[in-house]
Amino acid sequence: MSLRSNILDLRKRKKEVQKGGGDKAIEKQAKMGKLTARERILAILDDKSFHEYDLFVEHSAKDFGMEEKVLHGDGVIIGTGTIFKKPVCIFAQDFTVAGGSLGLAHARKITKIMDHALKMRVPLIGINDSGGARIQEGVNSLAGYGEIFFRNTLASGVIPQISVILGPCAGGAVYSPALTDFVFVVENISKMFITGPSVIKSVLGEEISMEELGGAKVHAEITGNAHFYAKSEHECFEQIKTLISFIPRNNKGKAMPFPKKTPKKDFNIEEIVPMNPKIPYDMRDIIRSITDGSEFFEIMEHFAPNIIIGFGRMDGETIGFVANQPKVLAGVLDTDSSDKAARFIRYCDAFNIPIVTLEDLPGYLPGVDQEHAGVIRHGAKILYAYSEATVPKVTVILRKAYGGGYIAMNSRHLRADFVFAWPNAEIAVMGPEGAANIVFRKEIAEAEDPEAMRQQKVEEYKQKFANPFVAAGQGYIDEVIEPKQTRSMILHALKVSENKDISGPKKKHGIPPF
Ligand code: HXC
Repeated sequence: MSLRSNILDLRKRKKEVQKGGGDKAIEKQAKMGKLTARERILAILDDKSFHEYDLFVEHSAKDFGMEEKVLHGDGVIIGTGTIFKKPVCIFAQDFTVAGGSLGLAHARKITKIMDHALKMRVPLIGINDSGGARIQEGVNSLAGYGEIFFRNTLASGVIPQISVILGPCAGGAVYSPALTDFVFVVENISKMFITGPSVIKSVLGEEISMEELGGAKVHAEITGNAHFYAKSEHECFEQIKTLISFIPRNNKGKAMPFPKKTPKKDFNIEEIVPMNPKIPYDMRDIIRSITDGSEFFEIMEHFAPNIIIGFGRMDGETIGFVANQPKVLAGVLDTDSSDKAARFIRYCDAFNIPIVTLEDLPGYLPGVDQEHAGVIRHGAKILYAYSEATVPKVTVILRKAYGGGYIAMNSRHLRADFVFAWPNAEIAVMGPEGAANIVFRKEIAEAEDPEAMRQQKVEEYKQKFANPFVAAGQGYIDEVIEPKQTRSMILHALKVSENKDISGPKKKHGIPPF
């Protein structure tokens, strides 16, 4: 045996294992419109940066004929590479090998790369394409999931954890993505559910397709499990790279700075918000009127669209935006929008990303449905998240800030660092119509012309309370500003907050209204 022949032998072995489940299975994967696990990794990472580990790991299961089976790489590829020249850890389940099902060796490979990511403080990307717990390996498969979930929790808030659902993600497998920070789904490809259609049919007698049960759209629009929705795998990979460009590599770092750009001239901030508080507008135009290059990377665009969350840059630095969307339900807070915003606020806080809040809302959504759906419990999450966050926090009140909405949207009272309001902002316990109807009920009822009296009282209320000056007079608002000053005021506030350093009372952890 010479070194040369050993090298040739190594190459042959690698080639054999890298074929995964073989040509037929790969063909089946392609027919489903899916890339292979290896193609996916190579498409996400910088060119030629991928290094694979544990290629030769084999399972040692013996039951149900498993001793006969060779499962290349045990159905998962793990390794390291770079994105924008910055290191990441990655794993991709290989559906061509036993349906990407998770056995003990498979799980050990995943936990090995997770441990590596946490130790090295670099982002972890997990590509899920699996039939779930490998049935033949019984409790060892369940143990594997448990080990993964524990590590997801341990790494939470330390390194970014990104899950990409590119095939089935069935049974308990769904809980790893659910514990991570960002979940990506792709039209017609992603399927995520705890109990599949066959179980539903046998237990409940109901027929439902995988797509209707847990397809990409379902998770992007209804359940809120997915943060990003793409029409193709390649579009999804571009989204992942964009996300990576906005976030720091770990909780001690800062996102990479970009060259400064001014907003585009197409967005004239003075012309976006109608004076009439009943007329809606698209808050994304306001965000684009103040971000570098008018760029905005929206997160959970299709879920609870009455609130907007996402990243933009100001003077080259990443900013987390939380903004009411007057175009949808007048921008009210409800159960889903509270959950959506609260989690994002906690993400920004954990990863040192300043938060800019743009406010225009009539309060929390009233109604029996919301009360019974737990708007008290869910609504409390946003209060908790803002109060707890110690990153720089700036609020701009554009128009309405009524009642609980005023308090919840990063008010001074929850420790906003800077609060600005536009001159036509209305800061009050409730809208003028509702307030006048309650406070002046008797006068209106007894008036000769109740409608005229009602109008008069509404006007009176507006003059007295529905403006920013009462709040400014109390110091709850730091400055009433002209709309055109918005970007420069935020930039100055963030500059001043650069070395912000505060801490609360010592505790093990709080008990947020999960
Ligand atoms: C072992 C599995 C498997 C599994 C699929 N395969 N899922 N092997 N354990 N969980 C194998 C199949 O036997 C087949 O092997 C190959 O993978 C491809 O699967 P197909 O069924 O041919 O593919 P497809 O028609 O595309 O259907 C994919 C699927 C289906 C929808 C995912 O395979 C399926 O329903 N699997 C079971 C899903 C499930 O119920 N998982 C939950 C497990 S319990 P061959 O050799 O024929 O190619 C669980 C609890 C964990 O996860 C709890 C943790 C907290």
